[in-house]
Amino acid sequence: MIGVFDSGLGGLSVLAALVEALPRADFAYYADTAHVPYGNKSEAQIQCRVLAIGDHLAAQGCELLVVACNTATAAAVQALRAAHPEFPVVGVEPGIKPAAQDSRSGRIAVLATEATASSQRLQRLIQDHAGQVEVFVEPCPGWATHVEMLQLDDPALARDVRARVEPLLDRGVDRIVLGCTHYSFLAPLLRDVVGARAQLIDVAAAVARQTQRLAGGLAHGSGRLQLHASAHPERLRAALPRLHLGHLVPRIA
Ligand code: DGL
Repeated sequence: MIGVFDSGLGGLSVLAALVEALPRADFAYYADTAHVPYGNKSEAQIQCRVLAIGDHLAAQGCELLVVACNTATAAAVQALRAAHPEFPVVGVEPGIKPAAQDSRSGRIAVLATEATASSQRLQRLIQDHAGQVEVFVEPCPGWATHVEMLQLDDPALARDVRARVEPLLDRGVDRIVLGCTHYSFLAPLLRDVVGARAQLIDVAAAVARQTQRLAGGLAHGSGRLQLHASAHPERLRAALPRLHLGHLVPRIA
């Protein structure tokens, strides 16, 4: 079984890509809904949660873990790999590299949680892969919480999205990296603002391809999905259709 986790619903965007790439694999998805959001927490707090979730998923029989959360990857993927050297751990990092490679204007932006925006890991990623372009890092407090509450049509959120993204476009940004897995669910709102002025960069499919390369025999299961959450597990199943992921419901074991 492949374990996938996030602070909440955001990682479901990665799970959907994983299921598409590995339709017969068995998955356990864990949402840390008792502690969401991670974006305003310290590195030590996030590490503590990630290690506990890693132990939980290992105890459930998972043999590969996907950290479907940029914030948890930035803060704790190294600690998780050290704690579980017995299986592969795939992290999610903002798609700085493809954005920098494809940008024509030489200006890209990264939308992320406060924790990711201020992380050393993001700084290193920018240094390593975006030396030739100008990178604007935009922390987006509250966006993940709107997704958690399934308030995707909230006019206040739409206003905040516009207020943060329009100045980036005015500066000539032509690639906008979704640096938080929750933001995949805000793509329609973002596209309304961005139009043809920039492309959104989401790494979910790339993460799924990397997982596929490492999955080995885990690719050949019975296509079942377990849903776990640290609070209100019943909300996860109910959220799937609201997030246009209703096709995952028949897989739930
Ligand atoms: N989904 C997460 C990420 O990719 C974190 C959102 C949050 O809990 O703040 O960064």
